[in-house]
This record gives sequence, structure tokens and C-alpha cells, in this order.
Amino acid sequence: MSITASAPGKAILFGEHSVVYGYPALSVPVSSLRARCTADPCDGPMRLIAENLGRRYLYRVASPEDALAYAVRGVLEELNEPEPSLRLVVESDLPIGGGLGSGAAVSAAVIRCVAAALGHPMTVERLNALVYEVEKLHHGTPSGVDNTTVVYEQPVYFVKGRPPQPFPVGAPFDLLIADTGESASTRKVVADVRALYDAKREEITAIFESIGAVVEQARDVIAVGDAGALGPLMDENHALLCRLTVSSEKLDAMARAARRAGALGAKLSGAGRGGNLIALVGEGGDHEAIEAALNGAGAVQIWRVRVGEG
Ligand code: PMV
Repeated sequence: MSITASAPGKAILFGEHSVVYGYPALSVPVSSLRARCTADPCDGPMRLIAENLGRRYLYRVASPEDALAYAVRGVLEELNEPEPSLRLVVESDLPIGGGLGSGAAVSAAVIRCVAAALGHPMTVERLNALVYEVEKLHHGTPSGVDNTTVVYEQPVYFVKGRPPQPFPVGAPFDLLIADTGESASTRKVVADVRALYDAKREEITAIFESIGAVVEQARDVIAVGDAGALGPLMDENHALLCRLTVSSEKLDAMARAARRAGALGAKLSGAGRGGNLIALVGEGGDHEAIEAALNGAGAVQIWRVRVGEG
């Protein structure tokens, strides 16, 4: 019998990078974009099929850095199960390295699927801990915001090392997520911010403090449903991220274009230096005009996401 499991992508609304240093972040699942894993019984050793990467291989010969095999190993060890005769097919709507949580979503889908196929459905807490282990392989020192948002599939106010808190959304709001088409290594960008922090501790700490204050204000503004006040906070967060040197010419150009076309605010989302920009469209705002402006500034793909509905 075939078993399928899935997990959503995520978008960090506020607080990326400073979250690694213990400051809060706000993040939301993107349920319309998902990673899926299907398990079917097979003869012989376990097979892994990564559709998006066009790769088919045996679990037992995968390299130690192979994230799919690492996720499988994690769940088998956790469940104290030997290698099962399963054929796992993994596919994802999420761009790899684009800041939408593709790695965490794939890991969560795979672990959920293997656990279900072996008859051991998992609690979200255990799943979250296992996905976090795989995130370490991808990113080195992840804060845990990606895996937490993807596994809980709820808007999350996240502080590293603390239980996640869902945050209330007073009125749903619309975001455009625009892909720069440029992918950056989260591990490298996070390491560069660490080097900057080590070199200029006071200055960088002040930036983190300011981002932390923006996150707290954004949480309040989202709770009362005040999209008008949210846009300027996104702009402020983007400017602070620029000072951390994690933006790029294309992200800045897309942010300017979106604001000129009527977006209430715009910022990079995720590690930066590429990946995605998020732009806030006000109630009755002109999605098409903002999308056209983003395309004009070089966006390669745009998704519409409504936050806080359902
Ligand atoms: O994986 P990304 O691109 O969504 O970046 C994760 C967010 C960071 O704050 C940059 C890193 C982290 O571990 O929180």
C-alpha cells in the first residue's frame, strides 16, 4: 500500500539572521507550496528517488552528506527499525536554496512518510527535533525557525531554544513572494554575518536589537490587523538586513519596484543575497501592477499568498 506525506514551505516575515543570535522572528507556512514523499513497498534494498533533482539511488550507498538519506537514517534510528524495503519518491514545489524552506519541507515530508509507512506516526515535537538535525547538515548552526514553521504549519513567533508560540493574525493580508532566481548558500551567508558580528560586535548587536524591536512591533500590528502599519516595518527590516550585507542588487531593485507600484512594504525573506523578496499588497491593492513591476525588476517567479486565513 502506498503512503504519502507532505509538508509546506515557509516564509520568514521578520527577524531572519538576528534569530540565530536569540532575537525573535515571525514566520508563516506557505501551504500552497509543498514537498511530498510517497513510500511503496519494493523488493530488496531501499530506493530513493528525488524527482526534482532527477536522481535515483540506493539508500545504503548514499554519501554521508546526502540530506535525504540523512533524514531517513534519523527516523530509522529514532524508531529503532532496520532498513525497510521501500521505494521513496520525493518531489517538491519549492525552489532549492530560495529561502522558502525547501530543505526543511523535504525532510519533514520524508520523515513523516517513513514513520507512517513503518506504522509509527510521530508527534510534532519528535518530528521537529529530527528535522532540526537534518537542518544542521544543510546550514551548520540553524536557529530552528524553518523546521518549526514547516512542521507545525502555523504562524510562529520563534525564539531559539524556546517552545514556539503561534501568533494571532487579526485580519488576513496578501503577500507576493517573488523569486530572484539567484540562489545563495544559507550556510555561507550565516557565516558571513557571524564574521561581521565577530569583527564589529557593538554595531552588529545594535542592528540585531533594532530588528528585534521591529519584530515585536510587527507582532502587535499583525494581531490587530493593521496592514498599513506593517508595510513600513517590512521596509525598516529590509534596511537593517542591508546593513548586515545580506541583500543584493536584485533584491533591492525588486523591493523599490514593488513599493513604487503600490506595495505597502517589501523585504527580503530568508538568508538573502538572492532567494526571495516578499511584498505586502494592501486591501484592494493592485496585485497585477505590483507583479508586473517585480517581473520588470527581474523576478523569475511570483506566488500570491494570503496569510492568516483558515
Ligand atoms: O534557509 P533560509 O534561507 O530560510 O534562512 C534561514 C533563516 C536564517 O535566519 C538566515 C538562518 C536561521 O537559521 O534562522
